[in-house]
Amino acid sequence: MKFFVDTADIKEIEDLAATGLLDGVTTNPSLVAKSGAKDFKSLIKSICEIVSGPVSAEVAATDYATMRKEADVLRAIADNVAVKVPLTADGLKVCKELSDEGTLVNVTLCFSAGQALLAAKAGAAFISPFVGRLDDISTDGLQLIADIVRIYDNYEYFDTEVLVASVRNPLHIIESAKMGAHVMTAPPSVIKQLYNHPLTDKGLAAFVEDWKKTGQSIL
Ligand code: G3P
Repeated sequence: MKFFVDTADIKEIEDLAATGLLDGVTTNPSLVAKSGAKDFKSLIKSICEIVSGPVSAEVAATDYATMRKEADVLRAIADNVAVKVPLTADGLKVCKELSDEGTLVNVTLCFSAGQALLAAKAGAAFISPFVGRLDDISTDGLQLIADIVRIYDNYEYFDTEVLVASVRNPLHIIESAKMGAHVMTAPPSVIKQLYNHPLTDKGLAAFVEDWKKTGQSIL
């Protein structure tokens, strides 16, 4: 499973990139606003220099003509930009055109299997189903991941990767991985939670204490 981080915070991206475990980055207008960045295009350029994998940069417009122009600007920033478009008729029209031209497209705001089918037919590189936001309205977000993975698996000619988004906790990641989702994007705090287990802490403390008793040094 590929790990993307869902943030527009350069420091957080640098920290995670240093672990060697980061495969890409996703941003959205809300995350850009939260980051305080004043120049979106420079921000995306900087992120693309830190991470060699796909960096999702989202269009701001909602009509076809403006989205298409914005997409052309965004994809020119760096080779690893994945243009992010909303799952609307206009968004998928832009997706089909860009995908046909070899540009990576991430179709966002997916909340149903039917929408995911449309994105695959439009040639999306990634479909982003929002697990947490479905859970928020008492709908099983992970069931949507299972449905999309199953549907895509039925058709060899669908190349779209399932990018689990709106991830709120480690279980969202683990259960999606069991289902075979290709990618997940999560806030840094959730990715860091994956490291933690109380038995690891307890075991390590015991090893440190016992090593002291040996009176030895490896170095
Ligand atoms: O990047 C899109 C998605 O991951 C947003 O997550 O937590 O705002 O629902 P959230």
